[in-house]
Amino acid sequence: MFLPEPMSLPEKLIFSPSAEAIARAAAFIREGRLVGIPTETVYGLAADATNDKAVASVFEAKGRPRFNPLIIHFAGAEAAEAAAVFDDRARDLVRRFWPGPLTLVLPRRADCPVSLLACAGLSTIAVRVPDHEVALEVLAAAGRPIAAPSANASGSVSPTTAAHVAASMGEYVAMILDGGPCRIGVESTVLDLSDAAPCVLRPGGVSADQIEALIGPLGKPPADAEARPRSPGLALRHYAPSIPLRLDATGKPARPHEALLAFGPHPPAGYALVKNLSASGDLSEAAANLFAMLRVLDRKDFGGIAVMPIPNVGLGEAINDRLRRAAEIELEAGARPAHMDRHSHRTG
Ligand code: TXA
Ligand code: MG
Repeated sequence: MFLPEPMSLPEKLIFSPSAEAIARAAAFIREGRLVGIPTETVYGLAADATNDKAVASVFEAKGRPRFNPLIIHFAGAEAAEAAAVFDDRARDLVRRFWPGPLTLVLPRRADCPVSLLACAGLSTIAVRVPDHEVALEVLAAAGRPIAAPSANASGSVSPTTAAHVAASMGEYVAMILDGGPCRIGVESTVLDLSDAAPCVLRPGGVSADQIEALIGPLGKPPADAEARPRSPGLALRHYAPSIPLRLDATGKPARPHEALLAFGPHPPAGYALVKNLSASGDLSEAAANLFAMLRVLDRKDFGGIAVMPIPNVGLGEAINDRLRRAAEIELEAGARPAHMDRHSHRTG
């Protein structure tokens, strides 16, 4: 494929968005690589949203100490409806504001093709259709949903030019498409429609007034709205196994009917079922497998899930954070599902 000359050094990753460059960017995304793309709000770090490993590399690149759910971008409302459950409010909003800077948090469809890791294991998904020709062309050419958090390291300011992306994410991206400075310059509004009372989790390009004019009064956002997905058991229904999770399980014998979430080449014997996050000890592979494997092991006929220790470095921090919070749910009084009480072996 013809690849246009890079525009200038040292930004040799930056390409003007010719048809060839867009096709190349889409091919990189389909291969599981990361690409910097412009949107009307800020530049995004784009990855194939259906590819767990590509999504894991987004968390790695951003250096996030925990898995915050990512916004999933679609080429149009119809494509978004294949991933999320839309109600009448959602349809009214997207008719008015898409493509545009409004992200809707909706229930995930049962057959949602998007990586569980991209949604941080939540039962909801954040969807948006960006209002930028380059982003829409990449989405169309990639032919799949794209996870795209702002293309900056966690905790630093969001990028509004291709040069910003090169400066902060240059070593992680295969290329950056230059769509010029972002028209809006602040992130999209995140509106939670997964509860009866809609509320704004993150103010952004579309104002609360504009939303209320269409769907009526909004609820008060919870304190620290952006942190809410980190609070398991609240309205966001953070996914946690329905059976107890036992961390750092090595060294102790398996309990009756216990499953094992393993890590590394030497999982101990004696467990009812073993899933290995990464036999080679690769933390990125482990992150990619985490939520899907937890689901496989979450069976009512198991007494619990033992988890091998995972090194607390790099993505290991985010994995351990998520596992600790999933384990804590089990300690909350009343949080344990009633069916567990039938299993006497659980307390043994
Ligand atoms: O303008 C934007 O939205 C940019 C451009 C690149 O499109 N993208 C962006 O993505 O800001 P990201 O992934 O950095 O934003 C994620 C925000 C966080 O506030 C996160 O908590 C919220 O969306 N979010 C994502 N999924 C969620 C969910 N299922 N429930 C609640 N909040 C969610
Ligand atoms: Mg951000």
